Amino acid sequence: MKNNIPKITAIVVFSFFFLKGTIDLDNLFNYANQTVPNYITKDNTPGNNAIDDKIATLGRVLFYDKNLSNNNTIACASCHQQAFAFSDPLTTSLGLNGGNTGRHSMRLVNSRFADEVKFFWDERATSLEDQVTQPIQDHVEMGFSGTNGDPDFSALITKLSAITYYQNLFEFAFGDQTITEARMQLALAQFVRSIQSFDSKFDVGLQAANGNVGPNFGNFTADENLGKRLFLDPPNRGGAGCAGCHRPPEFDIDPNSLNNGIIGVANGTGVDLTNTRSPSLRDLVNPNGDLNGPLMHDGSLTTLLAVIDHYNAIPNNAANTNLDQRLNPPGQGNQNLNLTNDEKTALEAFLKTLTGTDVYTNEKWSDPFDSNGNINLVGSTLSTQEHLFGKNVLLYPNPAKDFMNLSVEQGNYEVAISNQLGQLVLVQSVLGTQKLDVSKLNSGVYLLKIVDRDSKRTFNIKFIKQ
Ligand code: HEC
Ligand code: HEC
Repeated sequence: MKNNIPKITAIVVFSFFFLKGTIDLDNLFNYANQTVPNYITKDNTPGNNAIDDKIATLGRVLFYDKNLSNNNTIACASCHQQAFAFSDPLTTSLGLNGGNTGRHSMRLVNSRFADEVKFFWDERATSLEDQVTQPIQDHVEMGFSGTNGDPDFSALITKLSAITYYQNLFEFAFGDQTITEARMQLALAQFVRSIQSFDSKFDVGLQAANGNVGPNFGNFTADENLGKRLFLDPPNRGGAGCAGCHRPPEFDIDPNSLNNGIIGVANGTGVDLTNTRSPSLRDLVNPNGDLNGPLMHDGSLTTLLAVIDHYNAIPNNAANTNLDQRLNPPGQGNQNLNLTNDEKTALEAFLKTLTGTDVYTNEKWSDPFDSNGNINLVGSTLSTQEHLFGKNVLLYPNPAKDFMNLSVEQGNYEVAISNQLGQLVLVQSVLGTQKLDVSKLNSGVYLLKIVDRDSKRTFNIKFIKQ
């Protein structure tokens, strides 16, 4: 038995590398029909962009592709990292030329499940579709701005149009190879909307309570239940009033919210009154309880207790003309909740119940590129279909990179591949469907000869090795 262990390890490692970097178009991940709990009712999906597995798969590739930046160093995922709930642990994120973003990167978990359709901290994008190509056109972030000496978006389209996997993926997703900004918006928005997290302790409790958020949850500690009550109840009933703006069970922001008294500028001086949106408060911390990144638009709060302390006593600042009235009740001065230390700890414990686990590791939202930055598409839709010997012969993908599948209806065949000099490079028997390992061949055009062993007839198919 002992002797087998290294062998098994080798196989596991090998298949991991094979999977990484490969997208099987015949076996897509489920993006379109994921389970959403029945108590989740908010959804900002527009009528013309319901999630489709093919288009979301293209969106995943775009999201992780550094080709979307002018110098091939930055992808969306550079600043929206899966391990941090699609945010960035840095206060501000690094763009393509070493510049820093003006604000903290936002978590993208559950962006779909919200009434608010505007995006960014200051809501300057009118929809998610509108938002997703703005970073590409930002001089600091991805550098196709058309200003400051940057190329413009049409240069990006020309660049992507020359990449084989985009020719295949756009055709697969939209029916032809044309790349447009509108198609990129649809695909990126679908991928972002697919990122969902509903396996938290809170969800287990809410499910058991038949979607009724008010009563104590059976699976919560006393602290977590106290924290939940404080979160839900308004200040005039002894609560902290959080739910007025961060509305359960989605914990999306009230579209009418004004700013919350955080008016600083990230890594800088001055005031910024314009930030009135928050991402969902789900997954503020990771499954170990550590923050997924500093909080607020300026990344100025680095613990949950600092957040609670902020709301406990909203600082007075005459310059803040955009403070939400709920935090500045008429005639009472700025909100002062007088929370005890125990209450603060309870509120913190409750916020930690909003974290799931799946979203941090599920492969459907992970980097599809291999360590060399390549993607290998396989699948029958990328096929060369021929009618030989009166039978269907399917060869896919063509062009091929590592493997090619040859599927022949009934019979007993031999396959011989030769290069353009006529030299034989591979011979293999074929029964039904066969995988041909072409990984060691040099790039180029090859001739694949299929010999029907019974009738001795021979047929040729050209294929391209990438
Ligand atoms: C250089 C870092 C960086 C890159 C690259 C980047 N983002 Fe962002 N993203 C940010 C920052 C910072 C914000 C908040 C900016 C603001 O509000 O002014 C943000 C905000 C967002 C939001 C708004 C979320 C919300 O809840 O309002 C979405 C969606 C988003 N990014 C998606 C993307 C996509 C898609 C890409 C790739 C095309 C991308 N980002 C590339 C840093 C980045
Ligand atoms: C009046 C509306 C309002 C109320 C009430 C409110 N918030 Fe907020 N909250 C916001 C806004 C707006 C932001 C984004 C502010 C920014 O970054 O400038 C925010 C941001 C946050 C963030 C940071 C999110 C992130 O991704 O960085 C946390 C955490 C938070 N609030 C928790 C709470 C808690 C806990 C309470 C109750 C004690 C509460 N909020 C009450 C409006 C509100």
